[in-house]
Amino acid sequence: MTPPRSWPLARVLAHRCGGLLAPENTLAGLAAAAEAGCGGVEFDVMLSGSGSPVLIHDETLERTTDGHGHVALTRDENLRALDAGTWFDARFAGERVPTLEEAAARCISLGLSVNLEIKPAAGQDEETARVVACRADHLWAGAAVAPLLSSFSELALEVAAQLAPHLPRGLLVDRVPPDWLQRCRRVGAAALHADARYLDRPTVIEAREAGLWVATYTVNDPARAQTLFDWGVDCVITDWPGVVRPAVTQHRSSARYPAGSGAQSC
Ligand code: G3P
Ligand code: MG
Repeated sequence: MTPPRSWPLARVLAHRCGGLLAPENTLAGLAAAAEAGCGGVEFDVMLSGSGSPVLIHDETLERTTDGHGHVALTRDENLRALDAGTWFDARFAGERVPTLEEAAARCISLGLSVNLEIKPAAGQDEETARVVACRADHLWAGAAVAPLLSSFSELALEVAAQLAPHLPRGLLVDRVPPDWLQRCRRVGAAALHADARYLDRPTVIEAREAGLWVATYTVNDPARAQTLFDWGVDCVITDWPGVVRPAVTQHRSSARYPAGSGAQSC
């Protein structure tokens, strides 16, 4: 029998590092989340053209940097030269696309718990998961709280389960599919991460009774966050951590944590 364990991360996580307080997936976002009193963050990790894990959401550079083209085709030295802050606000000019190493070090020093979303570029699910799981395992070794790895890619989660079975995993979905529990079981997910717009109370109850944690995104209304916590949701991911964080105060998490298993290791 698996011993009961509570949700290991902060119960309110800043989306893409700092939500809308700073440019997404940047070190400035991590600082902003901590300054807002947030205890944890979610961020997206993809492989560069050099095979390095970096924090970025889109497969292309145009929206969040002054660069052009595909992340997966851009070598580290070219990625490092890009400005990832000015698009958001001139105050953030000079922000870079962080490496996973930089983000891990900053999160550990700021005391931020981490939901690391594995965000593979098309066709790179296995390789991205392999690199990210092994690197995360190494970077957070000895840290107070291990990162929780989530992904929309079930293949990525299966690879992570093999390589770093002790790091908890969350299956990301937008609309909750009818076979969500089988999918979670198949990838050994400890958590279901669902879009809050489509999540309902019976599903939250069923998931928690099945021993899964439930995280939900992106919740920017404190009243909605309160309702979700009332349903039993363990975590909300928000663009406005300072505004939403007070909704958590009266709630406790008590879901069970399934044990990991896997033959390989990093
Ligand atoms: O992990 C929750 C959320 O970040 C998933 O959506 O597109 O913002 O990465 P997205
Ligand atoms: Mg994400």
